[in-house]
Parts: sequence; structure tokens; C-alpha cells
Amino acid sequence: MNVLILSAGTRNKIVQYFRKALNGHGRVIATDLSDLAPAIYEADRYYLVPVITAPDYIPTILDICRKENIDGVLSLIDPELGLLAENEESFKAAGVTVIGSSRELCDLALNKMKMYHWLVCHGYKCARSWTSRDDFARCVANGEAVFPVFMKPVEGSASISITKVFDMETVNLLAAHEDRLMIQEFLNGQEIGADVYIDMISGEVVSIFTKKKIKMRAGETDKAVSFKDPALFALIERFVREAGFRGQIDIDLFDINGEYYISEVNPRFGGGYPHAYEAGCDHIALILNNLQGTANSKKIGAYDEGVYMMKYNEVIIRKTDDLRAGKA
Ligand SMILES: Nc1ncnc2c1ncn2[C@@H]1O[C@H](COP(=O)(O)OP(=O)(O)O)[C@@H](O)[C@H]1O
Ligand SMILES: [Mg+2]
Repeated sequence: MNVLILSAGTRNKIVQYFRKALNGHGRVIATDLSDLAPAIYEADRYYLVPVITAPDYIPTILDICRKENIDGVLSLIDPELGLLAENEESFKAAGVTVIGSSRELCDLALNKMKMYHWLVCHGYKCARSWTSRDDFARCVANGEAVFPVFMKPVEGSASISITKVFDMETVNLLAAHEDRLMIQEFLNGQEIGADVYIDMISGEVVSIFTKKKIKMRAGETDKAVSFKDPALFALIERFVREAGFRGQIDIDLFDINGEYYISEVNPRFGGGYPHAYEAGCDHIALILNNLQGTANSKKIGAYDEGVYMMKYNEVIIRKTDDLRAGKA
């Protein structure tokens, strides 16, 4: 069983967990476009590949799959998820399973405005959002919208260009400097993260880990604590089943006075997944079972409450000559 992790970047732990799970019975191959992506050096072998938008990107990845006898492939970055889904048939023809959701759902998750409309249409609580400044101004004038609001790119990630805005003047200023910004009602509550695995064979939600975010830093959860609420598990199950996600996903929610608001979905391993893994939610094993043709049984909330996660920095040191060697 060999696994290919694309755009591994700084997700060293994910590569480590796969290697540990395979324990010499299979290999983990990682790729990135940069030889300064630390996670590639955790893999059994790595490849430096073109940027995902290059015409030869998918052919390059398929070549690696054939050469390395890959069984399953997954990506760790948002813009690549839809691309993988779109090429699912080519991967299948090469004997490779794409671990992820459909093209349609990857696009839905990437586009925060599309997701907003989907959530409203299906009756889920979420932050009211606008792309039209005129509509927003009208809502402010009639009292339906109040400051502060959040402004962010419709297809952004990693908290880039996200601003808390307190007046219309700043709304106009930001909009003048950047295209495709959306305006979103400020959700004033406890931020929550959920790491969810949807079995790729049965389509069932088989594992959910939820945490309260204590501190965010540079767009990522820096400190968090696990907790459980059956009502939250039920909401997540309903949402995930109704949308039809597959494989590993990460959901951002807010708890506002006991009501859960869905904020964002990333249909991939989130940066905070190590918290779930270390607390006992081993989704790597679930993936490997699926790749072997085995469906997983449902074990929602199989972890302890009150488990804290604290991130810290690590470094990898390499000499110039070793950077492009390909063998980690
Ligand atoms: N409407 C909002 N209300 C309160 N906080 C928000 C809102 N939108 C974004 N944030 C804050 O910014 C972070 C990143 O926003 P998010 O929508 O998840 O975009 P990204 O794709 O960049 O992660 C969130 O985790 C949250 O801390
Ligand atoms: Mg987010």
C-alpha cells in the first residue's frame, strides 16, 4: 500500500502519521513545488513538481503514481482539491484512489459565497454574507446589518486578506484595493473546529473530533481543547450527509449562545488535525482501510474531552546538495 501526499508543504505530522501507519509495509511519497517544503523530507521519497496550474501538472503526478505504484493520493492544499477530483477517472485508470470529495463539493467549499447560499438554502445557521456593497449598505441603513463585519476574499484561505471592519469608509477602501471580496456578519462566539472522516466506501460519517479553539495565530489554531456535544455531532452528521462530502474534511463552526453556526469547510486534512490524531481519532487508519477495500465502522466521538493541543515550532536543516536529491 503506497500513498502519495501532494503539496505537503509544512504538514510534517501528516506525512509522519502515514509512515507510522504503513510501518514499512508501504511507502509514503510526497510532492511540493518547493524544495524548501519541510514535510517532503519526512517522506520515503519526494518529488519536486510544477505549480498545480501548469499544463503538465496532472501528467507529472500520474507518472509518479505509475512509477511508485501508488494506491491512494491526497492533497493538503485547497486549490488542488477540485483538480484532483476532476481527474479522478485518470487516477482510477492508473489504479489510484483519490481520497477526497467530488469536484462540485470542492468548488462549493472553496467559494465562501456559494457555500453561504447552500447553507441558507438548506436551513443551516451561518453568517449573513454579501458581495454587493449596495445590498450591504441597504441592510446597514435599515438596521439588518451592523458593524463590525468581516471582509475576506470569496475564495481565500489561511486568513489572507481577512479584516474586521468597523465602518463603511473602510469597506469601500478595501473593496477598491482588492477584487472579489465579500462582506460577512461578525460571528461573536466560541470558535470550534471539527475533524471529520466520511467513509469512502459506505459514505457514512464514521469519525468526528471537535475542539474549542482557544487561540488562533497566522490563520491557524494555535491552542485548542477537545470537547463533545451530541447536538453538535448530530448537526455535523446531518450537514455532511446532506452535502455529500467524502474522506477527510475539516469544518469551522461558531457556538453563539448555544447555537451552532457553520462557517467554513475544507475538504482535506486541516492544520489542526494532529490534535484529533493524538487524542485518538486516527483517520489515517480509516483511509488505509478504505484503500484496502474495507469499510470502517462508525465510531463518533471516540476520544476524551479536555485534551489540550499546543503548537510549537520545529525546524529541518538541509545542505544545498541534499535539497534536490529526491530521497528523503
Ligand atoms: N464572520 C466572521 N465572524 C467572526 N470571525 C470570523 C468571521 N470570518 C472569519 N473570521 C475569523 O477569521 C478566520 C479565517 O476565516 P475563514 O472564513 O475560516 O477563512 P480562511 O479560508 O482564510 O480560513 C476564522 O477562523 C475566524 O477566526
Ligand atoms: Mg478557516
